[in-house]
Amino acid sequence: MSSYQEEVISVKLVKMRIDILTLFPEMIENALSFSIPSRAQKADKVEIKAHNLRQWGIDSHGNVDDSPYGGGPGMILRVDVANKALEAVDPDHKAFRIMLSPDGDQFNQSQAKELSEKEHIVILCGRYEGFDARIDKYIDQKVSIGNYVLSGGELAALVITDAVVRLIPGVLGNEESLTHETFENDVTDFPQYTRPDTFDDQTVPEVLKSGHHAEIQKWRQSQQKPLNQG
Ligand code: ADE
Repeated sequence: MSSYQEEVISVKLVKMRIDILTLFPEMIENALSFSIPSRAQKADKVEIKAHNLRQWGIDSHGNVDDSPYGGGPGMILRVDVANKALEAVDPDHKAFRIMLSPDGDQFNQSQAKELSEKEHIVILCGRYEGFDARIDKYIDQKVSIGNYVLSGGELAALVITDAVVRLIPGVLGNEESLTHETFENDVTDFPQYTRPDTFDDQTVPEVLKSGHHAEIQKWRQSQQKPLNQG
């Protein structure tokens, strides 16, 4: 069997799964029903499921949080609830488990690439003031998407899912992956232009209209900057 055939087979067999544990599953499902994440799910490249944490709540009200020992404002996600949810979607801890938190490791393009090669990822979103610190023992990595505090992990989960899914082999068409290949090499994309030729005294660089492919490529490379890896 040629290595090309092997690659085609392995791409087909390994369908990534992403489980997102959240109090707002609709927020996740709605956002992922557009554009490339939607296309990737329809093409069976990835299965993404948002699970409501309340189904693992401690009582009939689905309570998942409680006030912090020692006092203080807000509510804390309970460790028993988080652990039950993690065990339900990943019973043997085979998945890579991420917990979203502003004090986590900064997410970047190289981590997106690494995650795109995993078979199963579980993402735990927090709400409220935070998590019981003992949850750390049941996850593999705490991840932040930037140095600011969001009101919950859902937007961060969406950012990570989008960045990962578009890197799964076969999700972007050939032409799209070529266009974006630059990003995977740790440099930014180059500036692009389309019609009209002139707008409000701004003109398209002559080289792009020259038809000289080598010159165009040289110009584009000269315009790329190192990607800020945080
Ligand atoms: N939850 C709240 N803020 C966050 C951030 N910056 N990154 C990831 N999860 C978060």
